[in-house]
Amino acid sequence: MAFIEHQRLHLGAEAEVWRGTWFGKQAVRKQRRPRSWRHADLDHRLGVRRMTSEARLLIRLRKLGLPVPAVWDLDLEGGQLVLQWLPGRTLIEILNDDESDEHHVEAVLKSVGSAVRMLHREAITHGDLSSNNMLIDDGNVALIDFGLAAVEYEVERFGIDLHVLDEILGASHPQWSQAIDWVLEGYAEVDVRLGLAPVLQGGTVPSAQEVLTRLDDIRQRVRYHG
Ligand SMILES: Nc1ncnc2c1ncn2[C@@H]1O[C@H](COP(=O)(O)OP(=O)(O)OP(=O)(O)O)[C@@H](O)[C@H]1O
Ligand SMILES: [Mg+2]
Repeated sequence: MAFIEHQRLHLGAEAEVWRGTWFGKQAVRKQRRPRSWRHADLDHRLGVRRMTSEARLLIRLRKLGLPVPAVWDLDLEGGQLVLQWLPGRTLIEILNDDESDEHHVEAVLKSVGSAVRMLHREAITHGDLSSNNMLIDDGNVALIDFGLAAVEYEVERFGIDLHVLDEILGASHPQWSQAIDWVLEGYAEVDVRLGLAPVLQGGTVPSAQEVLTRLDDIRQRVRYHG
């Protein structure tokens, strides 16, 4: 692989992410990490499946014009994915920065909501909407880390996507008490602006309002049943 590594950005449970260059272009390489406690064969198959799915969905979203990194190389045997490097800071960095002012954070979180809705309108749920998996550059939001993303038409999965973000914002960033409200405003606003989501090959995507209603149901369920 023609990737030249410069700096390690992230060492997670599933992946090691390096920043570097690929044929002279700014790139990142996501290297799947073997998880020794799992059966090696099963582990390999799971990793390959996730990486294939991540690459496939990123390519689709990129073609649709959504702000996600381009896919430049995929080595399934070696468990490596080379993506376009995107500038910016993760949402977690912005929310944890004491210098961030409220107007900026409000605008960023509304854009996060809009970016998630644009994704959902294409019948794709992210599966891991944490504040680590969004890059903000000059107020523009890009979504990354599509290893758990899926094509979806059932309203429940869309609601769960928002609920994951809701829980993370509440637990990790309690100083921004209106955070989820701003996200949901941005989410709802897209359908007001663009109208109902188009009917796609696999069916109809639930409307923003349907997803928001389901989010309320999920919150209540979690409150009653833990
Ligand atoms: N295309 C990219 N451009 C810039 N930075 C990136 C890019 N992709 C990933 N990163 C950085 O690397 C970090 C980890 O990447 P990613 O979220 O894709 O891995 P991960 O699947 O979460 O790994 P794990 O699940 O093991 O924690 C991101 O939070 C981000 O800081
Ligand atoms: Mg991640």
